[in-house]
Amino acid sequence: MATVEVDLSRIPEGSEIKVMWQGKPLFIRHRTAEEIEQARSVDLSELPDPEPDSDRAIKPEYLVMIGVCTHLGCIPNAESGDYGGWFCPCHGSHYDIAGRIRKGPAPRNLDLPPYKYTDDTTIIVG
Ligand code: FES
Repeated sequence: MATVEVDLSRIPEGSEIKVMWQGKPLFIRHRTAEEIEQARSVDLSELPDPEPDSDRAIKPEYLVMIGVCTHLGCIPNAESGDYGGWFCPCHGSHYDIAGRIRKGPAPRNLDLPPYKYTDDTTIIVG
């Protein structure tokens, strides 16, 4: 299936779901205000792949990413690692709460799929 529709209203704040899209997992997290603040307070000069949080999501409370480590393609674990985001156990890449690489061998931030909102809490990915 080329596109997938996701009802974001079923994701409680502070948690996330995985949805398959084109054979890959999507990580869709409903971030808390604290998580958004944490993501936005980072000095971009500290980032290996500098990208402001505001460029990572259409609506900051819903982060939609491709859940595939940009190193060699393992699936990172949620809510783990040293930066409050995701941790890839294969070779130790740490991603922050915006999915940006912070430490480890991954060369770039978790990729973002194309998506758009069709109403306040529904997206179509693809
Ligand atoms: Fe994730 Fe190597 S595949 S760190």
